[in-house]
Amino acid sequence: MQRHLPLSVPTQAEVFAVEPDRVQLSLRGLSHGPATIRCRDTEVEVVVDADAIVVDIGNLPASTEVTISVEPSDGSAFTLAARTSTPPPGELLSRFATMSDLHLGSYKFGLIFRAQEKPAPKVEHPMRCALAASREAVAWGAEHLLLKGDLTHHTTAVEWPMLDELVSTFAVPYSFTLGNHDRQPKKKGIPTEKGMANVGLDFQPVSSVDLDGIRLLLADTSIPDKGHGRTRDIVDEVCERMAATDLPVFVGLHHNLENLPLPWFWPPGVPQSQSRVFLDSVKAANPRLMISSGHSHRNRAYVRQGVLITEVGSPKDYPGVWAGYSVYEGGITQTVRRVAAPDALRWTDRTRKAVGGVWGMWAPGYRDQRCITHHW
Ligand SMILES: [Fe+2]
Ligand SMILES: [Fe+2]
Repeated sequence: MQRHLPLSVPTQAEVFAVEPDRVQLSLRGLSHGPATIRCRDTEVEVVVDADAIVVDIGNLPASTEVTISVEPSDGSAFTLAARTSTPPPGELLSRFATMSDLHLGSYKFGLIFRAQEKPAPKVEHPMRCALAASREAVAWGAEHLLLKGDLTHHTTAVEWPMLDELVSTFAVPYSFTLGNHDRQPKKKGIPTEKGMANVGLDFQPVSSVDLDGIRLLLADTSIPDKGHGRTRDIVDEVCERMAATDLPVFVGLHHNLENLPLPWFWPPGVPQSQSRVFLDSVKAANPRLMISSGHSHRNRAYVRQGVLITEVGSPKDYPGVWAGYSVYEGGITQTVRRVAAPDALRWTDRTRKAVGGVWGMWAPGYRDQRCITHHW
């Protein structure tokens, strides 16, 4: 995995995600009408009826350079190139997916000039995007969904039923943890435990579930009425659960782990002093692990203190994503995929213009930090 500067250049057409057997294209600005997309023996016919579309190309061989031909109806054909990823050794054992930063109950996005749908739609974009992401993750093959916090926007009494409504549609089991937006009782909301109890959501600060070949562990890093996070309170139980299994462990957190004494971008995550202790502790408890957080609403990957850590963006703002994980005997792959449903993409693609257009450069990250093969 290469290290890059945090800014990337948004493109009109790109291979957004790669996997061992498929790629996902993100295409913007094609002329409306029928278009044909070809790659090796696969041909996909689409009808372009929006500014942005997302297209999946499957049945590809692993570890192979592929050229994708995009042929819109106006004759402006072009090609894209990519390399399908190399899976870890051994059998594919299980698949799961994560979503974070759903912010159910919000209806705007941006800093000063905030984008908003007018007239207000019947179903606001956070719910539309989360519904689409979960459906697409299950169709992709996820056997379990992990929700990594900021599930509600302001912890209000009307937002917890939205979460309950969302999870009631899931076709597979799910687990969830909380983010800073889920713990704002003084600012705008109601006590978190009360909000969850009102709709019968059962919550544990540290929870785990085992799939074939992996333990999925979620830990609550949120602090009531604070934006940053902490690991001090949960590290011991996390380590106990990691040491108690022979399986590798996927650790899901809401807050990113800071690596400098002061945060260099907003929003602040878990302070460096706690992050360092956490990383040393979890690696000692079970060296076969990876960690993934949300909170930053961006896609990044890095190795710190010998541990692979990823940050994955939100389904509801550009580029509008969820992450899929394939567990093999010898490791794990992460692929960050754009939510493809037109009613979600229509909104998420618009939000690339947020913060004076900076959001479109900051949030996506680079493909080799979204789509990763990690060996245990
Ligand atoms: Fe968030
Ligand atoms: Fe957050």
